[in-house]
Amino acid sequence: MSQHKIAVVVGSLRRDSINRKLAGAIVKLAPSEFRFDQLQIGDVPLYNQDQEADPAPTVKRLKSEVSAAQAVIFVTPEYNRSVPGVLKNAIDAASRPHGHSAWAGKPAGILSASTSPIGAAMAQQHLRNILAYLDVPTPDQPEAFIQIKERFFDPSGQIASADTRKFPAWLIRHAAT
Ligand code: FNR
Repeated sequence: MSQHKIAVVVGSLRRDSINRKLAGAIVKLAPSEFRFDQLQIGDVPLYNQDQEADPAPTVKRLKSEVSAAQAVIFVTPEYNRSVPGVLKNAIDAASRPHGHSAWAGKPAGILSASTSPIGAAMAQQHLRNILAYLDVPTPDQPEAFIQIKERFFDPSGQIASADTRKFPAWLIRHAAT
């Protein structure tokens, strides 16, 4: 059976990012008909419209990876009540030139993790706004604002609590149907 290709975009470059850990843990819970590829966004240069006609190789790579995917999952922290600049930069870069956006029509899911109880809810709202303009449909429900506390992940990177694992596992099944 052919696999559904899902691009995973993590909005943090931090080595010990809880959002990257969450993305890795979620992938482990997915059924085998899904293939997840985490896209690199840290090497995408700061967007400059002067370079649109001859984009950097990393921008071409990002656009072709997004284009090859059937759907996208964004897993992002919140920076100052919005999305991190590195994520917005990657979204902008792959959305241009006008009329040649790699994002258009790709369904997307959004997850966010924070150590705070609001679970990066504002970042999600801002991301939904951006994605709506880019014609990226996102399900309104279920929402997933994940608060990460100590020992949320086990040493192998899995979500430690079997009870907590039920929620992302349910989310993935919901998204797949
Ligand atoms: C934060 N953090 C944060 N958290 C939050 O819930 N709301 C916010 O607005 C912010 N703002 C913010 C700005 C900046 C510049 C930093 C560096 C951090 C805290 C943030 O959620 C926490 O550092 C996460 O661990 C970052 O995610 P990663 O890198 O671990 O995935």
